[in-house]
Amino acid sequence: MGYDLSMRVWRGDVDGGALADFTVPVEEGEVVLDAIHRLQATQAGDLAVRWNCKAGKCGSCSAEINGRPRLLCMTRLSEYDESETITVTPMRTFPVIKDLVTDVSFNYEKAKEVPAFAPTAPDADGKRRMSQVDVERGQEFRKCIECFLCQDTCHVVRDHEENKPAFAGPRFFLRYAELDMHPLDTNDRRKLAQSAAGLSMCNITKCCTEVCPEHIKITDNAIIPMKERVVDRKYDPLVWLGSKIFRR
Ligand code: SF4
Ligand code: F3S
Ligand code: FES
Repeated sequence: MGYDLSMRVWRGDVDGGALADFTVPVEEGEVVLDAIHRLQATQAGDLAVRWNCKAGKCGSCSAEINGRPRLLCMTRLSEYDESETITVTPMRTFPVIKDLVTDVSFNYEKAKEVPAFAPTAPDADGKRRMSQVDVERGQEFRKCIECFLCQDTCHVVRDHEENKPAFAGPRFFLRYAELDMHPLDTNDRRKLAQSAAGLSMCNITKCCTEVCPEHIKITDNAIIPMKERVVDRKYDPLVWLGSKIFRR
């Protein structure tokens, strides 16, 4: 059965804005993005919202629903009571461009700072080899759809613009961990993660893991192992060398 949904949607741009109230007819089985699209089609033709796949795979429709970082296309209206007002706001950690669309270029700048995969020399037959367990370990990290919801929720940068230059954020700790755990990569990623990416500023609150739509265990499987490896290396550089040699 359809019903009339009460919505509050942030409207504005870089110069400021405010929440606007709407009533939008919705149908059973719909998601928040459906309601936003209907609003756009019938009442607010100039409402800006970024989306693409409507299937939870492109990472474009990130916003905040009732203050919680979510994908608009994967959040079912049935999660909320029909009498509840749903408030949709842009991601708070990034500058607003217009309405629900934010400028996420912070993340692209951080991506550029991660040195590319630098493989060891091939074996005598020209091939490189790694064990299956090492292949599988990286698969979880590669599920990332770059929605940046983890970056949005992390308190280190959420209300602290001043921390942004020194902190790459959970999405990129994943990338550092993936490469550090790769037995054929020759960079010392944990040193970079600590010095250039601000790993030590993370105090393991796990908020990033809680909002990840791909259910990647960012904190347990990437951040904490990286922190442990940083400690290992700090006290014994041979531990780092050994881990590269003996994992092959
Ligand atoms: Fe999004 Fe998860 Fe990737 Fe973070 S790690 S950008 S929350 S998919
Ligand atoms: Fe931030 Fe995640 Fe660490 S939310 S503080 S990066 S555990
Ligand atoms: Fe692609 Fe939501 S539109 S993840």
